[in-house]
This record gives sequence, C-alpha cells and structure tokens, in this order.
Amino acid sequence: MKKTILLVLAALSAAGAFAAAQPAVVPQPRLAVCDGGEGLQLTDGVRISVPADNVVLFRVAEQFAQWMEREAGLRLAVAESDGPLRLTLDPALGAEAYRLTVGPDGLLVEGGTEAGVFYGLQSLRQLVSQYGAALPALHIEDEPTFAYRGTMLDCCRHFFTVDEVKTFIDILALHKINRFHWHLTDDQGWRIEILRYPELTRVGAHRAETVLGNNSAACDGKPYGGYYTQRQVRDVVAYAAERFITVVPEIEMPGHASAALASYPWLGCAGEGYKVQTLWGVFPEVFCAGRDTTFEFMEEVLDEVIALFPSEYIHVGGDECPKENWKRCPECQRRIREEGLRDENELQSYFIHRIERWLNAHGRRLIGWDEILEGGISQSATIMSWRGAAGGIAAARAENHAIMTPNTHCYFDYYQTKDPRQEPWGIGGYVSVGKVYALDPYDQLTEAERPFILGVQANLWTEYVAGMAHLQHMLLPRLAALAEVGWACDRRDMESFRVRLGELRRLYERCGYRCAPYFFDRTDE
Ligand code: ACM
Ligand code: ZN
Repeated sequence: MKKTILLVLAALSAAGAFAAAQPAVVPQPRLAVCDGGEGLQLTDGVRISVPADNVVLFRVAEQFAQWMEREAGLRLAVAESDGPLRLTLDPALGAEAYRLTVGPDGLLVEGGTEAGVFYGLQSLRQLVSQYGAALPALHIEDEPTFAYRGTMLDCCRHFFTVDEVKTFIDILALHKINRFHWHLTDDQGWRIEILRYPELTRVGAHRAETVLGNNSAACDGKPYGGYYTQRQVRDVVAYAAERFITVVPEIEMPGHASAALASYPWLGCAGEGYKVQTLWGVFPEVFCAGRDTTFEFMEEVLDEVIALFPSEYIHVGGDECPKENWKRCPECQRRIREEGLRDENELQSYFIHRIERWLNAHGRRLIGWDEILEGGISQSATIMSWRGAAGGIAAARAENHAIMTPNTHCYFDYYQTKDPRQEPWGIGGYVSVGKVYALDPYDQLTEAERPFILGVQANLWTEYVAGMAHLQHMLLPRLAALAEVGWACDRRDMESFRVRLGELRRLYERCGYRCAPYFFDRTDE
C-alpha cells in the first residue's frame, strides 16, 4: 500500500504536480529533497541558538535575524540556549559545506566551518522567500565546486560610496560569492588613501570631467572624484569578512597609471605632462620601469595595502600596458640592457617579477591579468584570464594557477540582449545570462590540468555605470548564473535554473535589488 502511494507521488511529481514544492535554491545544491513530511512554522520570537562560545556564529545568527525581519517580517531572537532553529559546526564537513534539515522538531544548519553555516543560511533565506514562514520538511546537502568565486567592481571609472560598496557585498553574499576583487586604481582615478603619498588622493582621485554619452568624445565639464580613506577601507574589509568574503585589492601596474603619474610625475618616463584621464580607453602614460624610484614607490604603497587587506592574494593588474614610452626612455632601455632582457615585453615581466618577489617576501601571492604571461611568468603567479579562456588554459598547461573570467562569458559591462537599444548603457559586446550559465571553466583542459583552475569571476567595469540602479541591473540576474557555475558547476541544468531563478527574483524584490528584466535568449543555448 505504502509503495503504491509512493509510486503515485513519484508519478505526480514527475508530471510537475509538485514542482512548486521542490526547494528552489540558486546555486543548485548537491542534494535538495522535500519529502512532503511535517515541517516547521517560523513565528515571531522563535529562537536561533548557537554554541555558547562561538562569537562568529552569534554574529551570523544576528545577520540572519535581520534578513528575516526585512525579507519576511519575522522577528527571530538569537540565544545561546536551545532553540528550534539551531546553528552548529560539524568538522567532518568541508570548510564551506553545509547541511540544512527542516523537520517537526526544528531546523538545523550544520557547517564545516562558520562559512558553511553562513551559506546554509543563504539557502534558508531563499527557502523562506519561496515557502513563506511555514517551511516543509526538507533536507539539503551542499558544497561548492570552486574555492575561488569572485566578482570585481571597478570603483575608478565611477566611484561608489562605502554604503554602495556594502550593498554590492551584500548581493555577493546572497550568491555565496567569496571574493570581492576591488579595482582601486586606474587612469581615471586613484581611489585608495596612501598615507605616505597623499598626492595620490589629493590629485589622483579627481578628474576634470567625464565622458558624456556612450562612446562619445564629448565631456560633461563637471569635476568628478572620490576615494576611500584607510578607515573606510578597513570598515569595508571587516564588513566583507563578516559575510565570509575576502577583499582582493587591485593596484594597477605598470599600465593604467595616469592618475598616479598626475600625482607624482617622476613615476613616468617623461617626468611631466600628465593628467587624470577624462576619456575611457588605454593610455601610453605608464610607470617607468627603468627608475628604481618607481619600485620604491610601489613597495611603499603595497606596504600600506597589505596592512589593510588580509587577503593572501594581491592583484597587480598587468593588463593593457602600451610600451611606446619604454621604447623611448633611456632609463627603461638601460634596464633592458643591464638585465639582459630581450625586449619591452620582458621588461614588463621584470616589473611584475620584481613586485612578486616583494609580495612573496611579505607573505602574499600575486594575481595579474593574463598579459603577465607575455614575456615570461614566474611559477607562483596566478593568472586572471580575461581575453577569452586562452590565458587560463596556457597558465594551467604551464602549471600556474588561473581564475577564469573570460570576457566572452564574465564581462558584466557588456549588453545582456542582442538589441542594446532596449537596455541601459553597456560598453558593447553581448553576455546574456544564458552565456554566463554556459561558461565551462575546464574547456580544453585535461584531468591533470583542471586542478590549476582555482575558480571563476565576474567583472563589472564601470565606464558606463554611474549609479547603483544601473550597477544592479548589470549584476542581476547574471550573478546568479555565475554563482551556479562557481558553486554547482557539475550539476547545471538550464531548465531547472530558469525555474529557480524565477523564485530568486522574488527575493531580489524583497531585498530591493533591481534585476534586469531580460531572461533567456534561446539562440544562446
Ligand atoms: C581588462 O579588462 N582590461 C582586464
Ligand atoms: Zn622609463
């Protein structure tokens, strides 16, 4: 008899009759079952209990209570005593893994570490949004595919306030992203206070005006600027850490240096005539690689940077460095001769290697864009593959670590539809949510090469993104697709994602996040 009922249930379920009852979590958990048994009713006053001595879990529980108040109108209490909603650690689980169980006796979230519990609670936010306060009995087990799941925000082309950056971090946390790559220096603005070099923010954080319109050469005539004080940086780093997100700072070198050169002209080959750029693009004003004073400057800047950012990885840019000034500069040419370098590409490698040695001597590791492969790369550097996947593939074959962020799938400044006229500004290109979803970080790699891929990242450059509404439009829902690649790479299913994303959009609304209305273009698949 029981067997017959189960068979009928299975048949109904397969027919979609109970489709709405299945947990709709993004990224897709490894296991998520809802067996129709008695669950748990959350009400005001329900206690979330944490182990008595775990301050970190206590803070995590407090965050969860805040989300529930905002997203579900529920006022939960945090307690060290036994409550029906229990958070706990199970060291037998992987560091970021979790188990979530709902039954008539209560709700249990177990994590390998506090990060795992935090991710379990991200899933729970989605479940409460889906089912309301009456949770059905269910069981979820989950663990990410990749250890590095990043998102980059360019705060140079446009500046975002600390509160805006925190909202960005909140959105990353909801998607179980664990790295915030903070692009802090570029031609159009230097955005981080460096105490030893105050001109970097007095001069370099401000430009005379900004490009008007999309890909036009006309400017608005309005001074534009902004930077983060070291206190604010510490605040952002701590805020991210509470959400189990490591902030990876990017200090660009040797290219994208106009703002630094405008602040301290002796950093450039010509020694004068620099300005903070007002147009977008790639500029020939780069750090002089011949003068030792450039390296002294870099090391003193990085000394302050590593004191602010506990991240093991420090990003040094390395992309888009025109070499024409190095060809003309006697100091750069002398360096090439004295170091026995073949050409200016090898001079760029010399620059990056020298900085890498300094970082390594200070206990940190270097990440650079895939141009750092040109002219030779050290074995210990990590490549961020952006000009397609080629750099990441070459890195993995050379047994260097790589992070896949190809512009073909991960550039969130690109348009999301094939008809940009219906969209807010993008820089060009086409990266729909379906394209992000289709990213294969292991494309062309053998089993032996795969372990060199640390993970994936989305990049949000902001030439044409001047405010939070536009930023969120570029980020969502594409970030949901990136999160599923990073967390659930081996269990992707476009049809299932489509359904679950429908639920997630409701949670975005509850959080006040703006999400692009475009969805799937079937021609992408
Ligand atoms: C890049 O998009 N220039 C890394
Ligand atoms: Zn030079």
